[in-house]
Amino acid sequence: MTIMIGNRNAVPTEEVFPELTRDVIDRMSNAKSARLREIMEVVIRHLHAIVRESKITQGEWSQAIDFLTRAGKICSESRQELILLSDILGVSMLVDAVDNVAGPGISDSTVLGPFYAGHQRELAQGDSILLRDEASEPLVMSGHVTDPDGRPVADALIEVWQTAPNQLYDVQDKDQPQGHLRASFRTDMAGTYRFRTIMPVSYPIPNDGPAGQLLAAMGRHPFRPAHIHFMISAPGYRTLVTHLFLDGDEFLESDAVFGVKPSLVVRPELKEATNTVEYNFGLARELRTEETRSPSFVAGSNRINSSEL
Ligand code: BEZ
Ligand code: FE
Repeated sequence: MTIMIGNRNAVPTEEVFPELTRDVIDRMSNAKSARLREIMEVVIRHLHAIVRESKITQGEWSQAIDFLTRAGKICSESRQELILLSDILGVSMLVDAVDNVAGPGISDSTVLGPFYAGHQRELAQGDSILLRDEASEPLVMSGHVTDPDGRPVADALIEVWQTAPNQLYDVQDKDQPQGHLRASFRTDMAGTYRFRTIMPVSYPIPNDGPAGQLLAAMGRHPFRPAHIHFMISAPGYRTLVTHLFLDGDEFLESDAVFGVKPSLVVRPELKEATNTVEYNFGLARELRTEETRSPSFVAGSNRINSSEL
């Protein structure tokens, strides 16, 4: 494909105005951070390539700017549209794949999602995470947290959260007691955890904003398969952000945010007439000098940390 510049030069699209791209990149020579410069060079190259390759029109670019503006405006203490966009476009899972370590004895990670709400009340082994009764089947979750060699990790912090049967998290629903269906636990000396909850349900991610409009325009549904979130941290180990999904869910193959990994799908067993899942989590050793990382967005608080630019 060739296009005309100034009605004179017919050039292949990929060669349109290459000196502009070079100029934008070169002007970062005084950048304060080498890493920022490295990343921004890639961002600029790829952004310019998108415009060239897609032959973006002025009208389409205005639409894109309007879309991003609306996405920013809808963000609030309990709504993070930019995380949703990252999730539905597969970017969150790609960052997870690039940044997380995998290997023998280490559990698979998946997306954090926008509904982590910060550290919750710490309960004792075997307690229920419900703050009100729900007409759902009970579920008992238990297992061990181990290091890559299978040795128990004592005193690991296990944070869990899930939606209510009405498909909403407490932070989305004024009628739920805050903290309903979320809690923290500590593993004992044997690395054991155990808590009571209810069977999770599949639910749509918030789709009444720009991310939902984009999903619909791309011909996709907004559903996530039933799951329980886990975030497990302990000094000296990488924080594991993951979920457990219920086997048989109709959305396992088409999760709106691409978060399902086969190792994270569990099938509850009936034990003494109660659905029971036993699942062991393996933590990777933290090789970096930085402390365990915590998520920068916490739903239900106004803690959106500025990134370290
Ligand atoms: C969640 O599982 O809570 C979630 C993940 C990504 C987008 C929306 C919700
Ligand atoms: Fe979720």
